[in-house]
Amino acid sequence: MYTHLNLLIFSLSLLLSLVPFSICTNKPPPLPVLPIPTASQLQWQLSSMAFFLHFGTNTFNDSEWGSGHADPSVFNPIQLNATQWVQVAKDSGFDRIILTAKHHDGFCLWPTEYTDYSVKSSSWRNGSGDVVKEVALAAKEGGVNLGLYLSPWDRHEVCYGETLEYNEFYMGQMTELLTWYGSIKEMWLDGAKGEGEKNMEYFFDRWFSLIRQLQPEAVIFSDAGPDTRWIGDERGIAGSTCWSLFNRSAAKIGGTDPQYSQGGDPFGHDWVPAECDVSIRPGWFWHASEVPKSAKQLLDIYYKSVGRNCLLLLNVPPNSSGLISAEDIQVLQEFSELRRSIFSYNLASTAIVNASSTRGSTGGHSFDPYNIFSEGIFTYWAPEENESTWVLHLTLQKSVSFNVLKVQEPIHMGQRIIEFHLEILSKVGDWWKMINGTTVGYQRLLQFPTVESRHLKFVIEKSRGEPLVSYLGIYMDNFSSVSSVFDKGFQIFQAHSNSSHVLQQSVYNHSQTAAT
Ligand SMILES: *[C@@H]1O[C@H](CO)[C@@H](O)[C@H](O)[C@H]1NC(C)=O
Ligand SMILES: *[C@@H]1O[C@H](CO)[C@@H](O)[C@H](O)[C@H]1NC(C)=O
Ligand SMILES: *[C@@H]1O[C@H](CO)[C@@H](O)[C@H](O)[C@H]1NC(C)=O
Ligand SMILES: *[C@@H]1O[C@H](CO)[C@@H](O)[C@H](O)[C@H]1NC(C)=O
Ligand SMILES: *[C@@H]1O[C@H](CO)[C@@H](O)[C@H](O)[C@H]1NC(C)=O
Ligand SMILES: *[C@@H]1O[C@H](CO)[C@@H](O)[C@H](O)[C@H]1NC(C)=O
Ligand SMILES: *[C@@H]1O[C@H](CO)[C@@H](O)[C@H](O)[C@H]1NC(C)=O
Ligand SMILES: *[C@@H]1O[C@H](CO)[C@@H](O)[C@H](O)[C@H]1NC(C)=O
Ligand SMILES: *[C@@H]1O[C@H](CO)[C@@H](O)[C@H](O)[C@H]1NC(C)=O
Ligand SMILES: *[C@@H]1O[C@H](CO)[C@@H](O)[C@H](O)[C@H]1NC(C)=O
Ligand SMILES: *[C@@H]1O[C@H](CO)[C@@H](O)[C@H](O)[C@H]1NC(C)=O
Repeated sequence: MYTHLNLLIFSLSLLLSLVPFSICTNKPPPLPVLPIPTASQLQWQLSSMAFFLHFGTNTFNDSEWGSGHADPSVFNPIQLNATQWVQVAKDSGFDRIILTAKHHDGFCLWPTEYTDYSVKSSSWRNGSGDVVKEVALAAKEGGVNLGLYLSPWDRHEVCYGETLEYNEFYMGQMTELLTWYGSIKEMWLDGAKGEGEKNMEYFFDRWFSLIRQLQPEAVIFSDAGPDTRWIGDERGIAGSTCWSLFNRSAAKIGGTDPQYSQGGDPFGHDWVPAECDVSIRPGWFWHASEVPKSAKQLLDIYYKSVGRNCLLLLNVPPNSSGLISAEDIQVLQEFSELRRSIFSYNLASTAIVNASSTRGSTGGHSFDPYNIFSEGIFTYWAPEENESTWVLHLTLQKSVSFNVLKVQEPIHMGQRIIEFHLEILSKVGDWWKMINGTTVGYQRLLQFPTVESRHLKFVIEKSRGEPLVSYLGIYMDNFSSVSSVFDKGFQIFQAHSNSSHVLQQSVYNHSQTAAT
C-alpha cells in the first residue's frame, strides 16, 4: 500500500513535471511587417556585391559614349578570357556579374539577328565569337550569377526614334538574351536618352512582362524598380537613412529624384532595395591612361553602400586585350584583404548578452539574444511583444577598442528598425551614447572614433513593429582615415558631460510607426 501510494505520487509528480514541456511548444515567429522581399530580391540582397563589366568598341577607341559609328572591326580582344573575369570577381568576394551586352553606341557583344553592328562584324575570331556566351559559360562554371545590361538608347540603330519599330527591335534583342544563354539573374535597364536625341517612348511595361515570362527569377533594375532601384548617383553612395521601402509609382524611369532614391521611403508600400553603381576607374570603359581607385577608397565606398543596406555594383572594365588589368586585380586583392582583416572577427562574439526581453522566453530558444552572433540573417533575436524598451546589453570578456558597428535585420520579415543608438560604459562609470543611426536593413555599418569598453548597450528607439536583430558585431578598422568618416550622415555625440547616462526613454507607440 505504502509503496503503491508512493509510486502513485511519484508518477503524478512526474506527469505534472512533464506537463509544462508537453504544452509549451515553441513560439512561432512574429508576423512579417509588409512589404517584404520576393525570393529573387532576397537572393539578390544576400550577394552584397556585384561586378559591372563595361566592354565594347569604346574599349578600343578610348571613348565613354561611343557615337554609334565606330568601325566594328576595331573590336578585337585577342586574349579575351571570361574565366579570368569571373575568377577575379570571385576571388574579390563578388558573386554576381553584370555585362553590358549593348551600351549606348549600339554595338552588340552577341551575334544578334537584328543588326550586323555586333561581334559578327568585328575582327575578333573572324566574326564568329560571342562574348555573352563566353561570360555566361564562365559564370555558370564559376557559380556566379549573371546579369545583362541592354541599353535602351541606341545611337547606331536607324529605327531608333520610331517608337513601334524600335520597341520591336529592342524586344527581339531582349528575347535573344533571355533565351540563348541559360539562367539570367538580373536585367539592368536605364532610361538613358541623349540630349537632343529623337523623341520616342520606351515600352517598359512590355519589356518587364517579357522578362518575367522568360526569366522569372531575374530581378529587374531601373530607376524605379520594379525589383531593385538605382541609388541616384554614380559614386556608389547611399543615403545614411536608406529604406528598401519605396513607392514605384512615385519614381520615374529616366527622371529620378536623387533624394527619394537615396533614402527610400519609410512609408513606401513596395519593396525596392537600392543598387549603388560606381566604377573602379574614373570612366566606365577601360582607358590606357586611367588608373584604379585605391583599396581604401573602395573600403570607404563599401561602408557607404553595403554598409547602408544596398548592393555595391562595382564596375571593373576589361582592357583591350580582353582581360581585367593587373593593376585593378591588385587593388581588388587589397580591398578584400582590408575587409577580411577588419570583419573576420567580431570582437563581441564571446560576450554575455542580456536582452530587455525575449520572445517566448519560457519556450524554446528560437529567438535567443545569442542569435546575434551567428552569421546570416535567418536566426535572430526577437523581443517579447508589447515591450516599451528594446535593449541588448553586452558584457565582453575584457575591455576592447573598436570603431565600427555592424547590425543586420532579418529582412525577410520586413525592414523594421527606424532609429537606434549604441552606448558604452566609460571608465568613469557613465553610459556614453557613442553613435546613433537611422535604418538598418540587410546590413548597416557605422564608423566612429575609436573607443574602449567592456560594456555595450544597443538600444532601438523606434521601429515599425517589434524590432528583430539577426547580427550585431563590433570591429576595429585600423585603415580608414578618420576624416573620411565624418560626413553629415555620421552623427557622433561623444558625451561632453557625464550627464549622458540620463537616457532618452524610448516608448513603443504603435500609432507612431508605419506598421501596416
Ligand atoms: C573615337 O574616339 C574619339 C575621341 O576619343 C571620337 O572623337 C571619335 O568620334 C570616336 N570614334 C567613333 C567612331 O566613335
Ligand atoms: C583564363 O583564365 C583562367 C583564370 O585566370 C586561367 O586559369 C586560364 O588558364 C586562362 N585561359 C587562358 C586560355 O589563358
Ligand atoms: C581568320 O580567318 C583567316 C583567313 O581565313 C585565317 O587565316 C585565320 O586563322 C582565322 N582566324 C581565326 C581566329 O579563326
Ligand atoms: C508612398 O505610399 C504611402 C502609402 O502607401 C504614402 O503614405 C507615402 O506618402 C507615399 N510616398 C510618396 C513619396 O508618395
Ligand atoms: C590587360 O591586362 C592583362 C593582365 O590581366 C595584361 O597582361 C595586358 O597587357 C593588359 N592589356 C592592355 C592593353 O593593357
Ligand atoms: C541585465 O543587465 C542589467 C545591467 O547589468 C541587470 O540590471 C539586469 O538584471 C540584467 N538582466 C538579466 C535578465 O540578467
Ligand atoms: C500585446 O498586446 C496585444 C494588444 O493589446 C494583446 O492582444 C497581446 O496579447 C499582447 N501580447 C502579449 C504577449 O502580452
Ligand atoms: C543623432 O544625434 C545627433 C546629435 O546629437 C542629433 O542631432 C540627431 O537628431 C540624432 N539622431 C537620431 C536619429 O537620434
Ligand atoms: C589595430 O591597431 C592596434 C594598434 O596598432 C593593434 O593593437 C590591433 O591589433 C589592430 N587591430 C586589427 C584588427 O588589426
Ligand atoms: C559629473 O557631473 C557632476 C554633476 O553634474 C559634476 O559635479 C562633475 O564635475 C562631473 N564630472 C565630470 C568628470 O565631468
Ligand atoms: C502615440 O502617438 C500618437 C501620434 O503621434 C499620439 O497621438 C499618441 O498620444 C501617442 N500615444 C502615447 C501613449 O504616447
